[in-house]
Amino acid sequence: MPAPESDLLESWHHNAHAWIEAIRTGSIESRREVTDQAILLAVLGRQPERVLDLGCGEGWLLRKLTERGITATGVDGDATLVEAARAAGSSPVHLASYEALVDGAVDIGRDYDLICANFALLHQDIIPLLAAMNALLAPGGALVIQTLHPWSVAGGDYQEGWRLETFSGFTGQWQPMPWYFRTLSTWLTALDMAGFALSSLQEPQHPQSPVPQSLLLVAEPRG
Ligand SMILES: C[S@@+](CC[C@H](N)C(=O)[O-])C[C@H]1O[C@@H](n2cnc3c(N)ncnc32)[C@H](O)[C@@H]1O
Repeated sequence: MPAPESDLLESWHHNAHAWIEAIRTGSIESRREVTDQAILLAVLGRQPERVLDLGCGEGWLLRKLTERGITATGVDGDATLVEAARAAGSSPVHLASYEALVDGAVDIGRDYDLICANFALLHQDIIPLLAAMNALLAPGGALVIQTLHPWSVAGGDYQEGWRLETFSGFTGQWQPMPWYFRTLSTWLTALDMAGFALSSLQEPQHPQSPVPQSLLLVAEPRG
């Protein structure tokens, strides 16, 4: 598969409209039933005043946080999604690729009480990005990541590597998205190498599902 990192963001440029439709119609059952609530509770549980939503997409989480009096800032690498988030009332929402954030090429503010990434860390080398986010946290701040649960999506092949999401089962026109599968231990190693210590790990689950719907990691900068 050629240049999966750039194909990944490119796929979001193609899929932005279908994604907005899917999120705003609540058509993804796991989100509706489990994972939206899980990340919201994890963020609210830290009682942050200022939150950065990394890879915010069309901004649903920004809106939920703003409704609760939290100052929520978004950043995403797709212009259509950023526009949709702004048009739905969220501000500020920055347009920047993760690569630009690692390079410090875009000012997205700093001293955040919490930075969250909801199913938004899909590329291979996440350590530089996590380290860059670490530097934007206020003292006492935390990072909250919700992601695909490695056990649930391994499909019998528990090895790191690029996979392809085809969005079969989703309605609309979708371009396949390359994403990087990482194991539980490599998630924890990435956090460690970016200067974080894990403070909690959750496996949000639907009572009628035999497997967890996501992996939710809360981490704090190592002192
Ligand atoms: C599965 S969506 C999640 C969106 C949002 N967090 C949510 O919960 O609905 C993944 C998001 O990551 C963003 N993204 C992926 N790769 C990126 C990159 N290299 N730079 C910036 N954003 C990126 C996409 O544009 C997309 O909005």
